[in-house]
Amino acid sequence: MNIDGQPYRTIFPDPDGLSVHVIDQTRLPFAFELKRLATLDDAAVAIRTMIVRGAPLIGVTAAYGLALAMRADASTDGIDRAVAVLAATRPTAVNLRWALERVSANLRQVAPDDRFARAFAEAGRIAEEDVASCRSIGAHGGRIIADLHRAKGNGPITVLTHCNAGWLATVDWGTALAPIYAAHAEGVPVHVLVDETRPRSQGAALTAFELNGHGVPHTVIADNAGGHLMQHGEVDLCIVGSDRTAASGDVCNKIGTYLKALAAHDNGVPFYAALPFSTIDWTLDDGVREIPIEERDGREVTHMTGRLADGGFATIEVVSPGSPVANPAFDVTPARLVTGIITERGVCDASHEGLYGLYPERRKAA
Ligand code: MRU
Repeated sequence: MNIDGQPYRTIFPDPDGLSVHVIDQTRLPFAFELKRLATLDDAAVAIRTMIVRGAPLIGVTAAYGLALAMRADASTDGIDRAVAVLAATRPTAVNLRWALERVSANLRQVAPDDRFARAFAEAGRIAEEDVASCRSIGAHGGRIIADLHRAKGNGPITVLTHCNAGWLATVDWGTALAPIYAAHAEGVPVHVLVDETRPRSQGAALTAFELNGHGVPHTVIADNAGGHLMQHGEVDLCIVGSDRTAASGDVCNKIGTYLKALAAHDNGVPFYAALPFSTIDWTLDDGVREIPIEERDGREVTHMTGRLADGGFATIEVVSPGSPVANPAFDVTPARLVTGIITERGVCDASHEGLYGLYPERRKAA
């Protein structure tokens, strides 16, 4: 995607071939800054502190992190240590584990001297595949929006989305936002309702930043507004991303997604999750009980950081001091509330049959 007319990906190798650059997402939307990751520790900190975030991008960053670790220690113990450090950064996004398994399996096949180059190249392939997957998700999901547009007598389509599942959450294009970008590019009039997504405000800060930059009409709404708007016929469909989707079609995504799915179900609004194959956890059948939910620092709830009128930044306290807080970062929407799953291979039912139908090779492995 473009920033000030310049094409950017969220992560890209330095010409030195020894490090990578990422966009510092903790500074958006007010400052656009790049950060260089040159070591395992740089990559682990970037994931843990959410300099990079979004399941697909976390996976690609972990893959590069494992490569960077090989520069310091390419022994087999070095692989194991680096995998352990990176796997511990964030527990919910399964793309992290998927990428680490793929790169480490690859590394074990080659001699230590070749491991850095092998891992760096493999991380680059994962990044390219992510771009291709997201582009394809955009094409499949864009058709859903275009069909609704036709069914509405060529009327405008309002899509509600939660958190940020745009190009900033992936390497490029995004998952939930890719269909919106595709429909917008084809001239379908789309308006996006952007949930602000407390406590970290990925919707208000990142999704709105993306849509602004891309010229897609949108309105930021408070997290609690979606149900009311659906009740009054102001939402044509919901599209969200996912951090981990069970083989049963249960969709784990940013906290608050489940409430939107309940409201959508109650009001007959189609509710889709858009995700690449690397987000599907084929080992799990009961997403609600089995997907680990990250519990983040309560300070994300008690404090907010923003820009002051004079252009400076400030962090302010917004909760009664001393009150205990809880901060589960994700929730799971049961498959029965999900109209369909949009993947790079097409759209399917949120069910074993639907997902194995699109990925028959997984049925054999299961
Ligand atoms: O905590 P984050 O910002 O890493 O969580 C990201 C999300 O939950 C997004 O909503 C997204 O759908 C998953 S990544 C495409």
